[in-house]
Order: sequence, then structure tokens, then C-alpha cells
Amino acid sequence: RPHFDMVGGELCVEGLPLATLARQFGTPLFVYSKAAMLESLAAYRRGFAGRNASICYAMKANSSLGVLQVFARAGCGFDIVSGGELERALAAGAAPGDIIFSGVGKTRAEMARALQVGIGCFNVESEAELEVLSEVATAAGKSAQVSIRVNPNVDPKTHPYISTGLKGNKFGVAHERALHAYQRAAALPGLKVVGIDCHIGSQITTQAPYLDAMDRILDLVESVEAAGIPLPHIDFGGGLGIDYNGDEPPKADALWSALFAKIDSRGFGDRKFMIEPGRSLVGNAGVCVTEVLYLKPGEQKNFCIVDAAMNDLPRPAMYQAFHAIVPLRQGNGPSSVYDVVGPVCESGDWIGHGRALAVDQGDLLAVMSAGAYCMSMASNYNTRGRAAEVLVDAGKAHLIRERESPADQMRSERLLP
Ligand code: LLP
Repeated sequence: RPHFDMVGGELCVEGLPLATLARQFGTPLFVYSKAAMLESLAAYRRGFAGRNASICYAMKANSSLGVLQVFARAGCGFDIVSGGELERALAAGAAPGDIIFSGVGKTRAEMARALQVGIGCFNVESEAELEVLSEVATAAGKSAQVSIRVNPNVDPKTHPYISTGLKGNKFGVAHERALHAYQRAAALPGLKVVGIDCHIGSQITTQAPYLDAMDRILDLVESVEAAGIPLPHIDFGGGLGIDYNGDEPPKADALWSALFAKIDSRGFGDRKFMIEPGRSLVGNAGVCVTEVLYLKPGEQKNFCIVDAAMNDLPRPAMYQAFHAIVPLRQGNGPSSVYDVVGPVCESGDWIGHGRALAVDQGDLLAVMSAGAYCMSMASNYNTRGRAAEVLVDAGKAHLIRERESPADQMRSERLLP
């Protein structure tokens, strides 16, 4: 993982030993590398060189304010999916005009607030949402810029891992209904059509589904514009998959040169392009450092019980996801095979199954690729406080989130009289 390297037998982030950070800030501890984030961003920017393009960080991947500041200062826009994300983006210094609002269930209150601050675009996901947005905008005396999220229905047989762009998913407007929806949008007061968008899924590691989806979207751009509705921007949704376990996703710059070849050959090279990457900007820019609390050898299995759990790292429990687990110090001792598990009272609370590790009680481990969809999906289950987060910038550590205390957790609750 770039910027996470073994130096003198110790795992370091930007040259700083992770063990030092764990001693200073405690565990479990999320540690992010700013350089790694900016490098992933740069790969997309290389792909967009010479184009009118904007990158809207999908902040659901990691919405911590310090992380958002990195992307805001780098000139990114933001893809939000709730009123809460809107307030976070604004608090981190996002330019409202560079915010796009996705999601199938926007409330009237969320729409009104987004109109009030002047966001750049609503990615509308249904015809019913168009009607409501028109009402909310008209009542506020505003014009809502809209794009319609089209479900490209990329063939599941060829690409079975695509999970959001299929018929049968709750997302977007069906390809066949899209022209109708655009005609309605163009006729409704308070709406201004500015583009089209799609999103076919996450953690995609091959190029073919992207190329197929682009074909489908460009077909629609043609037919919607033939009906007299211009589409100034094309938003191609989320970003690439990342390497969790030897995965080899296409590089962002290579993918975009293939996509632009297609776009140019169909004469749409002059559009504004937008993407909403999340995972690929932050996933491999973060790790979660955790301490081994106990080793528990068993007849059938050995358990390595650590102080991070499913409430900190929900992806294994939720998606059977793989995260590499690496001791911070390279040991020479013999290794045993462990299930790495947390303290939460559920058998589903595991972080890695069947891992060969040379570890002792008290050792520190790094759960890799933990920058995306970990802290942002963390919970307080078992009344566990959320972990602390540190962002390393040029070898200097900044605490961007304090460890959550029991008092923090109880703050919004009221005792009965
Ligand atoms: N845009 C839209 C409309 C999305 O629904 C998503 C992700 C993204 C952008 C960002 O996609 P990315 O670049 O991160 O692939 N919690 C799951 C991932 C859920 C992704 C949902 N949508 C996980 O941990 O794997």
C-alpha cells in the first residue's frame, strides 16, 4: 500500500512508525495518509487532463471532517446522500456549488436546505422525486439543477458483481423510462436539467462493465438531446475498486483513456464530465491499528482477540469482506493460524478468518485498506465508543477525531423523570 511501508521491520505511515501513534493515541486507531489520498486523486486527474471535468468525492466512504478538508482543499466537489453529509461538507469548507446530492430517499427538508445553500445538482432517482423537488423549489422561489440517475441495466450474467445498476435494484430510473422522465423534468417548474448520471456498483475490478455502461448512457444522451433537452454534463458515478487481497482493478487514468476514446468517437467529448469516487480515494489510504488482547487456542480453532470489533470494522461481518491483517513488527517467531475476532458479543464479530500470524498478547496489528466504509459505517454497538482517527500529513500526525467517551455516547439521551 503506497505510503504504508515496512521500515527496519516496523510498519510505518509516511515514515512514521504506526506503533508510536498507537502508544500516543491508543487503540483501536484509524490512521490515514494524506499523501496516499492525494495520489489516488491525482490518478483520476491524469485521466481527465485537458477535459472539463470535476471529481466529487463520495463522502459516504469516509466523512470525517479532516478527510473532507483534504479533498475540499484539493479542489474536489462532494457527492452527498443526506442532510447530515451536506452539513459535514459545508463544515469542512466545501463550495456549495460543487456539491451533488444523490440518493433514492431525499426528504423535503433535505431538498430545501440544499436549495438554500445552493448545491450544484440533484441526482434525481425517481419520477416521484422530480415532482416533489419541483414543488419544494417553486415554494422556495429557487431553481433546482437536476440530473436524472439512469439505471443502465448492465447485463448481470456478464458482470454478476455489479450491484446497483441492474433492473431489480432500487436505484435510478429505468433506461426505458429515462426519456419520459427527462421530458417531465423539462416541463416542471423550478427544475433545470443540467445533466445525466449513473452508478453501476462498487468495488468493480474490471473495465468491461464501465465500457458497457458508458455505451448505454451515451445512447440516452443522444435520444434525450434529440428530444430537445440538452445534457451539458455526464456524471459517471462511483469510482474504481481497490486492492484488498491481490485484486487488480484498472488504473483510473487507463480506464478514463478507454472511456474517452468511446466518448470522443461518439462526438460527446465537449461535455463536462463528473465522477463520484469514494473507496478508491481513501480505502488504501487508511489502516486500523488494533491491539491483541488475548490469544485463545482451541481444539478446532485458535482465536486472536483484538480490541477492534465489528462496530469499528463492519465490512467482514456485513459483506464477508477481506482485509489484510499485518503485525506492526515483523516477528521471527513461529506463526499459528487464527480467527481474528473482536470483543463484541456476536459470532459474526470477526475481522479475518484463518490468518497465519506470529503474534503475542499485547502485540499491535494493522487491519489494512480500512480508509473507506469503516469509520463511516462504525456504530456504538455494545456501547463501544468510536475509535480515534489520526491523519498523517508529510510525516506529522494530526488527531482528527478523539476517541468517543461514554459521556459522548449518552449526550443526546434523556433520563426518565
Ligand atoms: N455514487 C453513488 C451514487 C454511490 O451509490 C456510491 C456508492 C458511490 C458514488 C461511491 O462508490 P465507490 O467509488 O466508493 O465505489 N459499504 C459498501 C460500499 C457501498 C457503496 C455504495 N455506493 C462497502 O463497504 O463495500
